[in-house]
Amino acid sequence: MINSNTILVSSKTSASVKVNSHHQSLITKQLFWKLFRFHAPQFIIKPENKEIIYSVFRYFLHQPDFNDYGVIKNKADLDKGLLVYGDYGVGKSTLFNTIHEVGRTIVTKTQNTQLWFPRISTIDMLNQYYKSQKHPSSNFKLENYYRGKLYLDDLGKEDKAYNREEIIGKLLFERHHRKFKTFVTTNENPSAITARYGNHIGDRLPEMFNIIKWEGKSWRE
Ligand SMILES: Nc1ncnc2c1ncn2[C@@H]1O[C@H](COP(=O)(O)OP(=O)(O)O)[C@@H](O)[C@H]1O
Ligand SMILES: [Mg+2]
Repeated sequence: MINSNTILVSSKTSASVKVNSHHQSLITKQLFWKLFRFHAPQFIIKPENKEIIYSVFRYFLHQPDFNDYGVIKNKADLDKGLLVYGDYGVGKSTLFNTIHEVGRTIVTKTQNTQLWFPRISTIDMLNQYYKSQKHPSSNFKLENYYRGKLYLDDLGKEDKAYNREEIIGKLLFERHHRKFKTFVTTNENPSAITARYGNHIGDRLPEMFNIIKWEGKSWRE
């Protein structure tokens, strides 16, 4: 798997273009939109979901006005990650998976890492963790996920490891400590996340994430 830490950051910059913290040109919204449509041609944006979707787009494009729609109720900050929670089937995973694909396309073609982040579901992570415990030669290490950006899908759907260890809670704690951006999609609300992983996680959610509640009708019906 490609790890965001191993990707070379292009040092090419031009004084005339806006640069982000990695000294890369900022990805334009035109390029982003073209690639988003390429990777998700069937994805419908309509009045009921557009405010959330556009806020997320603006966040990834590093636009300081990304919360103009006011969908983030805690303090909106481009330096935090994103936690999107809410109803089943509204498009949370599809949205982030598509942005992940867009980011992969861009990093492959241009080495610009602005939109690049690895993705994993919490259930996959737990399965890989189990496998690595059984096969010490496995190259999976939870610590490898402590750094760099990360998209974690389905937070709270995973079991406790061996019925006792909350490895995802540990992962969140370690990532918060290191101040890396995490993107989370989940059906659990912040109180349920706090109840499950503990107050030491719950207390940190607002400083770690721009928190967005996404309600709506399921596309699965
Ligand atoms: N904006 C959309 N337009 C069309 N289909 C969508 C849209 N969002 C989601 N879907 C479809 O609905 C289903 C559920 O979406 P998903 O992203 O898994 O929801 P969630 O992660 O919020 O539970 C998927 O099959 C997906 O392709
Ligand atoms: Mg989902």
